Amino acid sequence: MKIVTMLTEKGGSGKTTLTRHLAVAAIQDDQSAACLDADPMGGLRSWGDARGRDPFVVPEASQKPVHVDQAVDKIRDAGADYCFIDTAGALSAVGLHMARIANLVLIPLRPTADDVKALWPIVEELKRHAVNFAVVISAAPTTTRRPTTETLDLLEAQGVPVAPAIIHQRQIVPDSGINGLTALETEATSPADAKAVDEFKYLWTWAKTRMAEVPVAA
Ligand SMILES: Nc1ncnc2c1ncn2[C@@H]1O[C@H](COP(=O)(O)OP(=O)(O)OP(=O)(O)O)[C@@H](O)[C@H]1O
Ligand SMILES: [Mg+2]
Repeated sequence: MKIVTMLTEKGGSGKTTLTRHLAVAAIQDDQSAACLDADPMGGLRSWGDARGRDPFVVPEASQKPVHVDQAVDKIRDAGADYCFIDTAGALSAVGLHMARIANLVLIPLRPTADDVKALWPIVEELKRHAVNFAVVISAAPTTTRRPTTETLDLLEAQGVPVAPAIIHQRQIVPDSGINGLTALETEATSPADAKAVDEFKYLWTWAKTRMAEVPVAA
């Protein structure tokens, strides 16, 4: 089983959104996927409850590495090919643990100066522990490309790996979550909505390949 962990220092950057969409993209790709909700706020778990079908969501709010491992074992024993972990978004002991057991860590990043500023401590820590990670540009504005290109230039200059799939701000993303769905399963009502589907699918395809290429560090 391969593990993908979403981790950030900045709240509201898109961890829960990425977890939901990647898990559904994996299922649509004929993989067996499950999620671990390690955020005590439980946003992923309530989405799973509203959904009532795969991916199943295992809640683990204790913030103890040993409990995370038990929850991951439960998901592995259930036969999942992929486990997607949504975290509370802090570089805590448990956050770092969930990064180190992952085959791939994704750091969703809104292309703003504040978000970029909050990125450096986490990048340093993940590099120090030789974790396989990448930044995912998340909720990028659709009206101007400038914040995205500036952020990409900055990340490239600092040698930070970035997923080639950029996730833009789309109304279908929050709207689809209300009923326990994702943009991947909701009928697109505009060309912009349809692009959201392509972006998440591209991210999944890239992440799958990346995990196959780079072995787990920990
Ligand atoms: N691509 C997107 N388009 C539109 N809205 C988005 C997009 N990505 C995330 N959002 C919205 O931004 C908000 C924050 O996203 P999300 O809950 O995924 O972030 P998070 O990192 O899990 O936050 P937290 O730190 O609170 O757990 C949500 O309301 C979500 O619907
Ligand atoms: Mg969240």
